Amino acid sequence: MSTATSSSQATIAQFEKYVIPNYGRYPISLVRGEGTSVWDAEGNRYLDLFPGWGCNILGYSPPRVVRALQEQAANLIHVPNTWYMEPQGQFAEALCTRGFGKAFFCNSGAEAIEGAIKLARLHTPPEKYKIITFENGFHGRTLAAVTATAQPKYHDGLGPLVAGFQYAPTNDLDAVRALVDDETCGILIEPVQGEGGVNLPDDGFLQGLREIADEHDLLLIFDEVQTGMGRTGTWFGYQQWNVQPDIMTLAKGLAGGVAAGAIIATDEVAPSLRPGMHASTFGGNPLACAAGVATVETIEEDGLLENCQQMSDLFRSRFEALQAELPIIEEVRVKGLMVGVDLTIPSTPAVGKCMENGLLINATHNTVVRLLPPLNVTAAEVEEGCDIIAKVLREMAEEVE
Ligand SMILES: Cc1ncc(COP(=O)(O)O)c(C=O)c1O
Repeated sequence: MSTATSSSQATIAQFEKYVIPNYGRYPISLVRGEGTSVWDAEGNRYLDLFPGWGCNILGYSPPRVVRALQEQAANLIHVPNTWYMEPQGQFAEALCTRGFGKAFFCNSGAEAIEGAIKLARLHTPPEKYKIITFENGFHGRTLAAVTATAQPKYHDGLGPLVAGFQYAPTNDLDAVRALVDDETCGILIEPVQGEGGVNLPDDGFLQGLREIADEHDLLLIFDEVQTGMGRTGTWFGYQQWNVQPDIMTLAKGLAGGVAAGAIIATDEVAPSLRPGMHASTFGGNPLACAAGVATVETIEEDGLLENCQQMSDLFRSRFEALQAELPIIEEVRVKGLMVGVDLTIPSTPAVGKCMENGLLINATHNTVVRLLPPLNVTAAEVEEGCDIIAKVLREMAEEVE
């Protein structure tokens, strides 16, 4: 029997005793959420513009997802992939008819990346195994995914890493061309780098990668773990640039906050993930898939792709106005509801001060304040969050002067 806990302090004490301390955690235990609001054990309410690290794409406990989970849990929680199951087929159809190809389901982003790497190697001749990835990218923490992540800080002490990954600077097509050889099987990229600082591709870069892939028979793999599910204002990020990948990975918001991941592959590539070569016991389970279908329906029926674009414009105008006022803002980078405010000073203190003011956001890549608000965020919530960030950054700018 677990020990019941009531205060943040009691939960923290329990963690100290029983949970492996591999995360830096804020000293707060969150107990309940609704929309963009979340409450701690002491009853304090926070506005969360980074809910679930982008997983809560519809905010906390979205009603349709909750209902779908309740109904599905009462019927069938889990069956293995040796059987057909209605929710998995429905979810695959919902995704592929809005995107392309065929789906394989797993449980997380890193798992989707692992499967995509295997699929790229399986689909190409045996001598082809190398994959080109990009500096400051992020693809997850399993051994192949972290090797694909071209950031040395995540490799420390893990060697030997998985063979066959080569790193290119972003937005440099010549550097990519120089790396391609007879052993290259694919190019893996986030259409917009998230953890790396909300970095957008230059015009023509993704198209250029498509052309290189076509010239050399490589597979173009888009890691849409963060950019998928409407995050950029279209169902998937590749649709923003009109560049068709051969393989796409999804996770985070895929099932409205329930653990789920997916690989989407074109009809031509998909059969290479043949029986016996890849599997996931929990992948595509009825519970996660029912949540996924409810997530797609909510985004569609509530017009959330349109809302994403409108709220994106509001964030942009608020932060560009602030940039004109405050020299500590170096650059504002916005794509849909991926928002990055790059500072001339470290961003971690800003995030701490926002928390003290009741706002949860994220700091990444040393100087970037990052927001991944849910697609149903309202204009009033955007204004509330921007007001707090503006107050905090004004105070920090004064300290710098
Ligand atoms: C673009 C991208 N790919 C992969 C991952 C790994 O996903 P997960 O943490 O679900 O394994 C992340 C996580 O932040 C991500 O942002």
